[in-house]
Amino acid sequence: MIDYRPLRIALLGAGSVGAQVARLLLENKAELAARVGAELELIGVAVRDIKSKRSADIPVELLTTDAESLIVAADIVIEVMGGLEPARTYILQALNSGSDVITANKALLATHGTELFEAAEQVGAQLYFEAAVAAAIPIIRPLRESLAGDKVNRIMGIVNGSTNYILDRMDSAGLTLEAAMAEATELGYLEADPSLDVEGYDAAQKIAILAALAFHTEVPLDRVYREGITKVTKAQITAARENGYVIKLLAIAERIDADGSGEQGVSARVYPALVPREHPLAAVRGAFNAVFVEAEAAGSLMFYGAGAGGVQTASAVLGDLVSAAKRHVAGGPGLADSVHANLEVLPIERIYTRYQITIQAKDQPGVLAQIANIFAEHGVSVETVEQSVNPSEPGKTPTASLMVGTHEATDASLSSVVNSLAASEAVESITSVIRVEGL
Ligand code: HSE
Repeated sequence: MIDYRPLRIALLGAGSVGAQVARLLLENKAELAARVGAELELIGVAVRDIKSKRSADIPVELLTTDAESLIVAADIVIEVMGGLEPARTYILQALNSGSDVITANKALLATHGTELFEAAEQVGAQLYFEAAVAAAIPIIRPLRESLAGDKVNRIMGIVNGSTNYILDRMDSAGLTLEAAMAEATELGYLEADPSLDVEGYDAAQKIAILAALAFHTEVPLDRVYREGITKVTKAQITAARENGYVIKLLAIAERIDADGSGEQGVSARVYPALVPREHPLAAVRGAFNAVFVEAEAAGSLMFYGAGAGGVQTASAVLGDLVSAAKRHVAGGPGLADSVHANLEVLPIERIYTRYQITIQAKDQPGVLAQIANIFAEHGVSVETVEQSVNPSEPGKTPTASLMVGTHEATDASLSSVVNSLAASEAVESITSVIRVEGL
């Protein structure tokens, strides 16, 4: 029954996501009103340029360049303009005037989340952000609500579609990084600034948001360890395939018993890693995303789907809009996320992981012992060693290729091993160093 006054919705931004939000809101007006118990009246769409071409037509009378007047008149503000400013100022204005806000802005949340959540809490307004991580895949609400009574221990996800596409094409079609990047660019998968994707910044923003929710802890973006995919070589991809692995850009958030002392900390990190081909994340192909969550009582859960795209992101925005609108109709305080756990965000050096290191070594007596010694000196236990002799070159010392897989050790010890190997006269070169996850 629709017996509540119409709710006034302001939309800030009409790019690939905003235009689809406007279209769906207008096309599904009657159904949304029935679900909410109030009409959702789109009172205007703030844009930079009224004449710009859009992916869906928006009635021209709704378009305005005056975002501030729209915010003042709205009950609920949807921010899909992206960027830090003026998005931050507009969201603060909306929250301070008591409006609920829905945002898809991962960069803003990862950078200014604390300020925005505090502003919301002060006035009892709500900030919804399902669309900020992995678009249509429900992952924020499961962490915020469904798993709120459980203890999440680990999140491991593929949260950047364009880099997954690039690595997948290198793996499945044998493309070089450059060729795969050119394809991703052609398909429009990469951000306007591709370094956000390929250097791992986008994934770092997303895992900072997920880690904060999962561990009830503030996770500043500059505490997220980050490596992108620009150093991944075709040779590494081929070797991974031959050895039953695939390389994925992983975003990992983990609850950690720091140094075995019982004191808890968290780690948030992004890097390319070898994942066994039988792991569920290995099956995530193309530009898809997936997030693997391990919780104490729930066990392992996997969330999979389209992690980008205008209409897919719009779906998550509209889900938040229905929640926000229902809260208006029913009243009540809504959700508030807590950072009460206040766990230490640990640096990468203290994190336990495994490396696979490929070394070109002199094929001479005693060399293997020297190399094994280096691992032992740093307290790193070797799990596997595979050796193949390289084709001989006239006048050159014969060399062998050694692929060493380690047991778990701290990243600091593993990285010291790599430095000592590089300095050792037994080693001609180190041709690959990559972490291994999902074993
Ligand atoms: N650049 C992002 C990606 C878009 O490739 O996944 C969605 O955030």
